[in-house]
Amino acid sequence: METSAQVIPITPAQPRQPQWSELVRDDRVHGSLYTDPVIYQAELEKIWFRTWVYVGHESEVPQANDYVMKSIGPEPVIMTRDKSGTIHLLHNRCPHRGNRVCMTEQGSARSFTCPYHGWTFANDGSLKGYPFPSGYEGVDRTTLGLGKVARLGNYRGFIFASMAAEGPTLEQHLGAAMGAIDALCETSPEGQVEITAGFLKHKVKANWKFLVENETDGYHPSFVHASIFEVAQSGIGTLYSSDSEAVSRDFGNGHTENDLRPEFRKRGVPMGWFGTTAEKLPEYAAKMNAAYGEEKARKIMIDGTPHIMIYPNLFIAEIQIFVIQPLAVNETVQHVTALQFKGAPDLNRRMRQQTMGSVGPAGFLLADDAEMYERTQMGVQMRSPEWLYLGRGKHRERLDENGFRVGDATDETPSRGIWRHYRSLVEAA
Ligand code: FES
Ligand SMILES: [Fe+2]
Repeated sequence: METSAQVIPITPAQPRQPQWSELVRDDRVHGSLYTDPVIYQAELEKIWFRTWVYVGHESEVPQANDYVMKSIGPEPVIMTRDKSGTIHLLHNRCPHRGNRVCMTEQGSARSFTCPYHGWTFANDGSLKGYPFPSGYEGVDRTTLGLGKVARLGNYRGFIFASMAAEGPTLEQHLGAAMGAIDALCETSPEGQVEITAGFLKHKVKANWKFLVENETDGYHPSFVHASIFEVAQSGIGTLYSSDSEAVSRDFGNGHTENDLRPEFRKRGVPMGWFGTTAEKLPEYAAKMNAAYGEEKARKIMIDGTPHIMIYPNLFIAEIQIFVIQPLAVNETVQHVTALQFKGAPDLNRRMRQQTMGSVGPAGFLLADDAEMYERTQMGVQMRSPEWLYLGRGKHRERLDENGFRVGDATDETPSRGIWRHYRSLVEAA
């Protein structure tokens, strides 16, 4: 009997290239886009480490030498303000042996000392020194600083970053989404948003794209959130029905919104968008009138704040922002905080209270969505049917006066827009 072991030659596996045009179609997408680790790796390279990603807000590092830990996709970055007031985004990786140089969430520090061998870096990333320096005689310290994120952009205090040295400018990337950020800032009598209420983190076992799509999915609220709408006697449910005059919109570049203003304008109640009236916020209303004049202030207070998903990770959700962070193909964190408006303490207090009620640890709203994300993730791991259908409202999609695609409130115009942009990013060389 032959006993010698048979030698099996090992052929190195060829890296598999996703066939994007096969997977992303006009009105449907393949389930593997949410489950395949190869696709997730491609997304990190072509989306998260290339395009503009929201990182944080300048009000999170208000003073010289403040810092806060943030992220770009799964990678941690430190957002610092140096002694001259300039904001930097530093990779949290020691250039010696790769250790993390900062382990605390936020604070004030002129420098960071790596815990492994004690190299010290200024808060602009430059190497200040190392212990026992005679071992490094003749070494050029200027090449051994912390890595810096290639590009940083600031739009009205919102800090975005791109790890690619070249590419569209932040303004080109944001496009019409800049108008939504402007509208958000105008909710403050001083024209400024502040991110000072602290973040809650919600981890879900689901692919990040389910969250991005859900943020402007106007089809689900009537069902997924029916219980909270009923308990809170909220009128939000009717905004997302087939009778609603609200529209869903694709701004291009992956940015999408549920524009609820047509409904709020029909109702014509200042602060109605917030479930209250201007009379109940007299101090805020007086400041708004003084800042913008009565006519414009009334318009701002009727229209309310935007409901816009700025691709790929900043969701402005009327009273909160959500920052979406992928950790793995099937794991995502949502960082949530109440919006705060400079010069509006009475409004801000209510913003915090409502945020705790809707997305806090015992809140209903985000928990409802999270349950859907995880069940959907389990679903797409099954074999059949392979496709997800995104055709709702395709036949009635139209262009608005600015040339953006719009659909009815419950249509899947946003999802189709998100996938169109996705394909353009992942197919790029
Ligand atoms: S790894 Fe940071 S000093 Fe050695
Ligand atoms: Fe939801």
